[in-house]
Amino acid sequence: MAEPDDLPLAPLRWAEPPDGPVVILLDQTRLPDEEAELACTDVDGLVAAIRSLAVRGAPVLGLAGAYGVALAAARGYDVREAARRLAEARPTAVNLAYGVGRALAAHRAAGGEGPTAAAAALAEARALHREDAEASVRMADLGRALLGELVPGGGYRLLTHCNTGALVSGGRGTALAVVGAAHRAGELRRLWVDETRPLLQGARLTAFEAARAGMPFAVLADAAAGSLFAAGEVDAVLIGADRIAADGSVANKVGSYPLAVLARHHGVPFVVVAPVSTVDPATPDGGAIRIEQRPGEEVTHVRPGARVAPVGAQAYNPAFDVTPPELVTAIVTERGVVSPVGRAALAAVCAAAGPA
Ligand code: MRU
Repeated sequence: MAEPDDLPLAPLRWAEPPDGPVVILLDQTRLPDEEAELACTDVDGLVAAIRSLAVRGAPVLGLAGAYGVALAAARGYDVREAARRLAEARPTAVNLAYGVGRALAAHRAAGGEGPTAAAAALAEARALHREDAEASVRMADLGRALLGELVPGGGYRLLTHCNTGALVSGGRGTALAVVGAAHRAGELRRLWVDETRPLLQGARLTAFEAARAGMPFAVLADAAAGSLFAAGEVDAVLIGADRIAADGSVANKVGSYPLAVLARHHGVPFVVVAPVSTVDPATPDGGAIRIEQRPGEEVTHVRPGARVAPVGAQAYNPAFDVTPPELVTAIVTERGVVSPVGRAALAAVCAAAGPA
């Protein structure tokens, strides 16, 4: 077996070849079979990559948005229009609009046109990239310490959903960064990886990252989680988030809410790990979170071209669901842990000074 590779993957980078700047993505639609790069030379290409999930996951969507504004500025496109299109490419992960907004504000503050403003947008995207990597380290430390309190004795059996590792981040990610820290400390007995239908981010991407890091893991069909809880095989659930409303409601990959209900029924901690940029004070509660509806083919087919439902079958395909705050044991951010989860406690942690 290959030695574990401990270096984080780079899901996105900026490059400046002679024919002009470009945002280079690790194409996540082709993992785990191929580590192929996708070069986006214009905003159309980047918007298409965001919609197809070639780049996906909340924190890295923020980076894609910020670098997208920098790309538009450097290549002389209409930056405001580019920012609008990037921010609207996917509606649920608030990090996308946040990243776009940061780079656009820097561009405006530097005059709103020309090379100086373009350089300011790029510098802001790079700053966000660094901040995300730092946040990831801090969340991993805080999350691992929290696990020690919630699950005395170590030897954790952790269940996760979707993909929250280096593929979604400028660093090692959110929930999977916590799992990775526990693994490196010898505290992980088993990572249970929900396959995460319909697009299989768990089976394809989390399993890829877990294997690469040498973690003990097993992939399960989403519907098998219940029997795993019933058998007492789960010590804690760790997931990420795409948007956290002001009341602590958590929008994350569809299938997260049923896990929270199961966890509550079985007395298992349900922990959300997300940077403060995922908390949206302008969204008052879970009902106000806009949930992306995706094409029915993602459900009627197991992959493009491989249909499993009868021709003409209708499908219901929300990309995310919302877990109410009362089912969330704790929210781990880079600025501190919110537990119990509530409006005031969440606002206080978000307002706290960031890591030095
Ligand atoms: O549709 P995706 O793959 O972009 O959904 C991603 C998720 O739901 C992740 O769990 C979420 O972005 C948290 S990643 C830190």
